[in-house]
Amino acid sequence: MLCVSALEDGGVLPEQGPVIVTGAAGGVGSIAISLLAQRGYSVTAVTGRLEEEAYLRSLGATDIISRDEMSEPARPLEKQRWAGGIDTVGGNILARILAEAQYGATLAACGLAASHTLPTTVMPFILRNVRLQGIDSVNCPTPTRIAAWTALASNLPSNLEQTLHKTIGLEELELSAHAIINGVVRGRILVNPNL
Ligand SMILES: NC(=O)c1ccc[n+]([C@@H]2O[C@H](COP(=O)([O-])OP(=O)(O)OC[C@H]3O[C@@H](n4cnc5c(N)ncnc54)[C@H](OP(=O)(O)O)[C@@H]3O)[C@@H](O)[C@H]2O)c1
Repeated sequence: MLCVSALEDGGVLPEQGPVIVTGAAGGVGSIAISLLAQRGYSVTAVTGRLEEEAYLRSLGATDIISRDEMSEPARPLEKQRWAGGIDTVGGNILARILAEAQYGATLAACGLAASHTLPTTVMPFILRNVRLQGIDSVNCPTPTRIAAWTALASNLPSNLEQTLHKTIGLEELELSAHAIINGVVRGRILVNPNL
């Protein structure tokens, strides 16, 4: 929700063109797709799991791109494609999204599932007025948290439940963490300490 708000704060409107979401079948990516689609954005999902196409479309993605295609190193500027984006992976993929961002686009970067590096140039920023907004939910100030939770509570997408992989108790944490790292978890896992 913080990422979606960053796009809205950056003035990204649904009619400006597609927005891209990376790590699409993961926890953050899945929810981002659902929230953006509900707000009327046309969402392109980037995934390494093309077999999850039906799931991603059920969340509201209109186009699917393979992770490999987006991982190709980009030139400093490429053809303009994205009005906005939510990136959970970093590295070459985020660099490519920056190079493909439309004039005036806002991109929210919240993760590093691929890499903590960002092999880019200043070109998208100084020639296309692109904004890269970092997102942190850990030390996020209370008023911002309240705004995000309020926005979620007031307008929760009906398909959000599909992003729930399963609910676990604390004793299953370690096994589930390995499953997430091994890329076999679709969506998110809910931890209920009372189980
Ligand atoms: N800044 C914050 O406040 C904040 C909050 C929550 C999470 N995060 C970060 O955001 C990221 C995503 O979190 P999450 O909970 O969604 O994790 P997750 O459920 O594990 O999802 C990550 C997704 O990234 C993709 N991916 C994995 N390895 C990749 C690679 N080598 N190259 C490209 N894509 C890869 C996969 O999606 P596909 O299978 O669809 O390709 C995977 O499902 C993590 O880095 C996490 O630490 C940050």
